[in-house]
Amino acid sequence: MINSETNSEDFHSSPLPSKLLLEAKNISHSFDYPLFNKINLSLYEQESIAIIGVSGTGKSTLLNILSSLLKPNLGELFYNNTNIYELKDKKLLNIRRKDFGIIFQAHYLFRGFNAQENLEIASLLSGHALDKNLLEDLDITHVMKQGVGELSGGQQQRLSIARIISKKPSIIFADEPTGNLDKETAKEVMNTVFSYIKKNNAGLILVTHEEDLAYECDKVFKLINNELKELK
Ligand SMILES: Nc1ncnc2c1ncn2[C@@H]1O[C@H](COP(=O)(O)OP(=O)(O)OP(=O)(O)O)[C@@H](O)[C@H]1O
Ligand SMILES: [Mg+2]
Repeated sequence: MINSETNSEDFHSSPLPSKLLLEAKNISHSFDYPLFNKINLSLYEQESIAIIGVSGTGKSTLLNILSSLLKPNLGELFYNNTNIYELKDKKLLNIRRKDFGIIFQAHYLFRGFNAQENLEIASLLSGHALDKNLLEDLDITHVMKQGVGELSGGQQQRLSIARIISKKPSIIFADEPTGNLDKETAKEVMNTVFSYIKKNNAGLILVTHEEDLAYECDKVFKLINNELKELK
């Protein structure tokens, strides 16, 4: 079992969030065919937003755009009132490195290193000390000496989540972060993420195909017919 000091009630009882963290304005993008047209989205401090939708509708592409990795064909993205895609490469890289925590659909860990070293690299890069409680919450304390290849898929996933949270990002972007986890563990892991968001005035944008999990977020959108339809 994973230890968690929080229960799901805490996440929903905070006062309404106020400060705008991220604002997407009229975002449109196509590859072979148009994926979405004039999408608008705002993320506030302490807020979590879920994006669901059928495979291939463009959820990961949208997350890439929102997380500064892919410039959209049209539209603007503001982070703390800065127009992200007008920044010089170096400034953009800095924001991506320090302020954004991106959990990919396929997680990237350094294979030649053990779990502990993977976390140390992240904490070196970000300048934030490792949080032992986080490892307890994610139930990976006991595998810290194991090589990445010796971890189960779910342990790797939890390690990459620990690595992202250790950076103390202001926004976490997560693409199917609990895809390798059983329902119970997924819930505990997401509780850790939700609690991080609330305690650190951060925000979360979560892409998932699990509706139960999506509805744990403050807002839920479905990517359908090239639009974001607000479901919650
Ligand atoms: N770099 C790319 N170049 C060309 N086409 C791409 C690229 N990335 C994604 N696509 C296409 O865009 C469409 C949307 O892909 P995307 O990965 O955003 O979907 P998704 O909603 O995340 O799907 P899933 O739920 O399966 O992860 C797909 O048809 C995909 O083939
Ligand atoms: Mg995807």
